[in-house]
Amino acid sequence: MKVLIVGSGGREHAIAWSVAKSPKVDKIFCAPGNAGIAEFAECVNIGAMEFDKLVAFAKENAIDLTIIGMDDPLVGGVVDAFEAEGLRVFGPRKNAAIIEGSKAFSKDLMKKYNIPTAAFETFDDAQAAFDYINSLEKFPAVLKADGLALGKGVLICQTKDEALSGIQEIMVDKHFGDAGNTIVVEEFLTGPEVSVLSFCDGKTCIPMISSQDHKRAHDGDTGLNTGGMGVIAPNPYYTSEVAKVCEETIFKPTLKAMEAEGCPFKGCLYFGLMITEDGPKVIEYNARFGDPEAQVVLPLLQGDFLKICKACTEGTLNDVDFSFSDKSSAIVIVASGGYPQSYAKGKVITGLTNGQIADCEHDNVHVIHAGTKLVDGQLVTNGGRVLGVVSVSNSLKEALDDAYSEIDKIKFEDAF
Ligand code: GLY
Repeated sequence: MKVLIVGSGGREHAIAWSVAKSPKVDKIFCAPGNAGIAEFAECVNIGAMEFDKLVAFAKENAIDLTIIGMDDPLVGGVVDAFEAEGLRVFGPRKNAAIIEGSKAFSKDLMKKYNIPTAAFETFDDAQAAFDYINSLEKFPAVLKADGLALGKGVLICQTKDEALSGIQEIMVDKHFGDAGNTIVVEEFLTGPEVSVLSFCDGKTCIPMISSQDHKRAHDGDTGLNTGGMGVIAPNPYYTSEVAKVCEETIFKPTLKAMEAEGCPFKGCLYFGLMITEDGPKVIEYNARFGDPEAQVVLPLLQGDFLKICKACTEGTLNDVDFSFSDKSSAIVIVASGGYPQSYAKGKVITGLTNGQIADCEHDNVHVIHAGTKLVDGQLVTNGGRVLGVVSVSNSLKEALDDAYSEIDKIKFEDAF
């Protein structure tokens, strides 16, 4: 098979890495890709939102399967553009990607189908939102911009004043543009968070091994919230009892709900969960693999990733055998100084040969590229999250120890 992957981050590197292991694969392309992906795939200079060019490329190169990594093209309808030309593509159509693209849609869905989530109210009028916040007695409150906002559209407001300022920022000053035309105000929940990615074929949803993202920028769970600075899998809080409850009250009902609404979900559905005192609840849905969750979940997959993706597009997921290893895995991200706020690009990276740690002492460790590019043959930084060191081992402690023992060999100015 000839495969095209759309995206340029660590998630797409992990997807390409999994595709490359399939005995079915002849050639991998990635649009636009990055320097790590270029080690084993051909990177094509087409942006993820250039749907016409992506479709034309897939037709000209007789691509058998395209896998969409990122949220923006999915929410924008890239799958519909491919399907309109009879091309096979892994990912939800626009009418199903809305489960990530609109928080109001996903909350209404959960309410209608009794899927456990935080209590909420939705507003498309700023004054009504201000009045509601003024009537609230219990804080913190959670504000969520309805649309995609580069992972920054959620504010946890400790006080009434903070919440009023948040409404002003999102709905009046439009910090997130049109994504803030509608807002969801949610009850604040507490408990350990769990990410569960799942393969879906429209009817069936098969959860992958659980994981736990670590969003704070610095070690010891300190610093600003980021897109994710490290992940472990499996998630120690996700016991088999919790998994059973999630299966019956969240996973199956969500797939059924999407089907009943006329928008069956095909692709990877990401359940962002919180294990509260009242049981597991949905914090958010994403319509794609998590980043960096994919980087630790996919290495534990035992089965042919490409075959599974193809089955998702065909509605035959139940016919494919796969499982997850009982090992543990971890990723630790190396980021640019200043991230998640402003940071410089173009810093020379040393310590890597052919994209991997030059003198790596662990066979179980590999490097995933998130924001890198080659300039005149030299590897330089090209993003906030630059590289991730992934380790798979018999225990979580060993996986973390091995990742941390290799990570200091990667160097660039202001790395952390
Ligand atoms: N790591 C969180 C996400 O992919 O949205």
